Amino acid sequence: MRKNIVAGNWKMNNDLSQTETLLTSLKNQKQTSNAEVMVAPTFTNLWHAFEALRESNVEVVAQNMHFAENGAYTGEISASMLKSVGVQTVILGHSERRAYFNETDELLAKKVDAALANSMRVIFCFGEELADRKGDNHENVVASQIKNALFHLDAAAFKNIVLAYEPVWAIGTGETASPEQAQDMHAFIRKTLADKYGNDIAQSVSILYGGSVKPANAKEIFSKPDVDGGLIGGAALKAEDFYAIVNAF
Ligand code: PGA
Repeated sequence: MRKNIVAGNWKMNNDLSQTETLLTSLKNQKQTSNAEVMVAPTFTNLWHAFEALRESNVEVVAQNMHFAENGAYTGEISASMLKSVGVQTVILGHSERRAYFNETDELLAKKVDAALANSMRVIFCFGEELADRKGDNHENVVASQIKNALFHLDAAAFKNIVLAYEPVWAIGTGETASPEQAQDMHAFIRKTLADKYGNDIAQSVSILYGGSVKPANAKEIFSKPDVDGGLIGGAALKAEDFYAIVNAF
């Protein structure tokens, strides 16, 4: 059975002392759900977070990485560097990476390969823009993002892939996809996986929803059968809100 996962993407927020404060209040929260819990601090705070959460069941994950193993790529971080500070999972393809740093499906395919070659787990993000939704093209856009970046993988690789559907128009905007819109898209994604890899694989992949998930709407979104959790931005920066979402299952 696939896992429920709630991952907090802290983005480019929190210096070291703010990170310490947030980590301390995370450790004071009580988990009442069975969800896997992850947080993604910035690169500079990964080791600190890993040390601070060592005894907890919160996994520390990275927000991005480069596809190369090492070399002349000023400012970049490799999979083996992440692994050396205890990170086993990386978020790839976030819409902010696609929009502001020109990350394409082709580049993301290389990053996915590098992560898997290093035995890491990938939270792969994708989602349509508002114009795609309004033009009723959202399913085509999502299908092509998944196919271009992931469908070169064999079925066995999918045990290390978590999908995160994040409609761009719902990220950081306060506007959420309705639970029905999320369910419809997640069911479409699962069918796309089933058509390529068969139903067993499709049923085993966790598909998270992201985009303005808050304590007030998490329960309804997570109650949908094909929504297996959330990738949380703004609400992950407050431990109480984040755990209200973790416990919404
Ligand atoms: P948000 O961000 O929850 O602030 O909308 C979600 C995300 O970017 O993953």
